[in-house]
Amino acid sequence: MIDILPLGAEHLAVIETLLDQRFGPARRNRTAYRLRDGTDLLSQFSFVAADGDALVGSVQCWPIQVRGANGRIRPLILLGPVAVAASHEGQGIASALMRASLAAIDAAGAPPVLLIGDAPFYGRFGFTADATREWHLPGPVDQARLLLRGATIGLSRLAWVEAETRDVKVA
Ligand SMILES: CC(C)(COP(=O)(O)OP(=O)(O)OC[C@H]1O[C@@H](n2cnc3c(N)ncnc32)[C@H](O)[C@@H]1OP(=O)(O)O)[C@@H](O)C(=O)NCCC(=O)NCCS
Repeated sequence: MIDILPLGAEHLAVIETLLDQRFGPARRNRTAYRLRDGTDLLSQFSFVAADGDALVGSVQCWPIQVRGANGRIRPLILLGPVAVAASHEGQGIASALMRASLAAIDAAGAPPVLLIGDAPFYGRFGFTADATREWHLPGPVDQARLLLRGATIGLSRLAWVEAETRDVKVA
């Protein structure tokens, strides 16, 4: 029996171990990590999966922003990483974590959600690359994997995605 629980401070060290196992230590060089540098985890939108006492999955969310060509800044949520222990893959745990996180985001009326990931998986949760073709990140990104979910009204076609600056609060 798997429980989906709010992510707490007590989970953080175990999550780091899980992420090292699933992505390798080089994960910290990824563009998504540069994007969220210096930001604080949005714990209200972040969840873990527990099998008894064992943490077997996690999803984390971070406050970021997008700066349009006209200079206008809009808040976004960066979702990720999503990881499930190899021993527990294929049981719907990542999907349950995604549903929990997106339900919390929707209930809070929070801004659109951005992630870097595989469209065949994340498309089922409403993510597409349609609005992000001309969005630039602080590092290399495969544009087909830069996926957004949520209202695109007011978002620039040409834009730069950045870590949240302190005057623009996501939540
Ligand atoms: C990707 C990952 C999170 C999936 O976790 P999971 O708990 O096995 O996923 P679920 O059981 O909820 O969903 C599995 C479904 O997603 C599909 N799926 C999983 N990874 C996929 C991918 N990269 N691309 C397309 N589909 C994928 C499976 O085929 C399965 O499809 P089905 O429901 O039609 O049978 C897990 O394999 C993992 O942690 N991998 C290593 C880290 C990683 O790659 N994270 C994602 C970063 S983008």
